[in-house]
Amino acid sequence: MINRRLVLAARPGDEIKKSDFLLEEVVLPPIKEGEFLLKVLFLSVAPVMKFYMLDGAGIENPLQIGDLMRGRGVGEVIESKHPDFQVGDIVQGKCGWQEYVICDGSPYYMMYKVQQRGVPYSTALGVLGMTGFTSYFGLYEVGELKKGDQVLVSAAAGGVGSNLGHLARIKGAEAIGLASTDEKCKLLIEKLGYKGAINYTTEDISARIDHFFPDGINVYFDNVGGEMLDIALSKLKTYSRVVCCGRISEYKNRNKPQYQLKNWHKIGATRSKMQGFFIYDFEPQFHLAEREMAQWIKEGKLIYQEDVLDGLEKMPIALNRLFTKKNVGKQVVKILD
Ligand SMILES: NC(=O)c1ccc[n+]([C@@H]2O[C@H](COP(=O)([O-])OP(=O)(O)OC[C@H]3O[C@@H](n4cnc5c(N)ncnc54)[C@H](OP(=O)(O)O)[C@@H]3O)[C@@H](O)[C@H]2O)c1
Repeated sequence: MINRRLVLAARPGDEIKKSDFLLEEVVLPPIKEGEFLLKVLFLSVAPVMKFYMLDGAGIENPLQIGDLMRGRGVGEVIESKHPDFQVGDIVQGKCGWQEYVICDGSPYYMMYKVQQRGVPYSTALGVLGMTGFTSYFGLYEVGELKKGDQVLVSAAAGGVGSNLGHLARIKGAEAIGLASTDEKCKLLIEKLGYKGAINYTTEDISARIDHFFPDGINVYFDNVGGEMLDIALSKLKTYSRVVCCGRISEYKNRNKPQYQLKNWHKIGATRSKMQGFFIYDFEPQFHLAEREMAQWIKEGKLIYQEDVLDGLEKMPIALNRLFTKKNVGKQVVKILD
């Protein structure tokens, strides 16, 4: 059996290119006792992957040139000599950018069985996977969301952000989203549960925040860092929470100096909290979030958004779309039927 896989061929520049990867075809060996074979159905892309390509994200070992590109996927077990994984099981975990995975089920792979929920398997990488868990725990645990809170979200139409309008609404709060195009802003309001939206490329951000938050922001869910974070800090209400989820505006060129915040003092002045988090810290509670969000999807309270490309060769393009602001919702790639 032939496995097609993408290995790192070059460190990326500003743009992630197809030529940063090499498509290899390798013969799969037979599985051994204690292993299972997974056919990959979907792979996920995430901004952190650019760090894997550079020299590691500080949370994983750096990738070397020639290494299989790292990433999560969802697949079907098609052969098994492992007691806990049966043929037909749908499983998500660290698959790497390849069509088949031979896995021994060890903790490194972080393989979880996917419950059959009547939704596409791709959701195991999006709203019912790490992306959705990041939205859920980021907003509810780190952001300590309360009824009546007024929430501002950056990259609101991205993977994590696209769940936050409904998650806020479900708890009796309201969210305003920041996005780069009018189409994304429209989607935020018409489909994704946001009360309002700000096109940060064409509108006066400060004036629009004042319009939507006359009393100030209770929760700022930050996916982008940089100047947007600085503006949001200047608009905080007392006892507000700033959720430092990600800093994609600073991921593009590692050699440029990081943005220096000017409005730090607002944290003290408003007696607010600012906290980062790493989603895997919440791993013991993932199953609770998954069950609850699946129920909300079934009840029509949580509507998710996916952006699906087709074929392993599209993985570099899919990853680059995050940095060129092309993705709408969670970016995934369909790999095999
Ligand atoms: N803390 C954790 O454990 C954890 C876990 C998962 C993800 N994260 C972080 O959460 C954030 C969202 O992740 P995601 O996977 O859902 O990605 P995503 O939001 O889908 O990322 C892509 C979006 O980011 C926005 N963007 C790209 N470049 C930008 C720039 N220079 N300035 C401002 N916005 C820019 C674009 O939206 P617009 O077109 O609207 O600008 C783009 O569509 C990322 O920062 C990621 O690193 C953290």
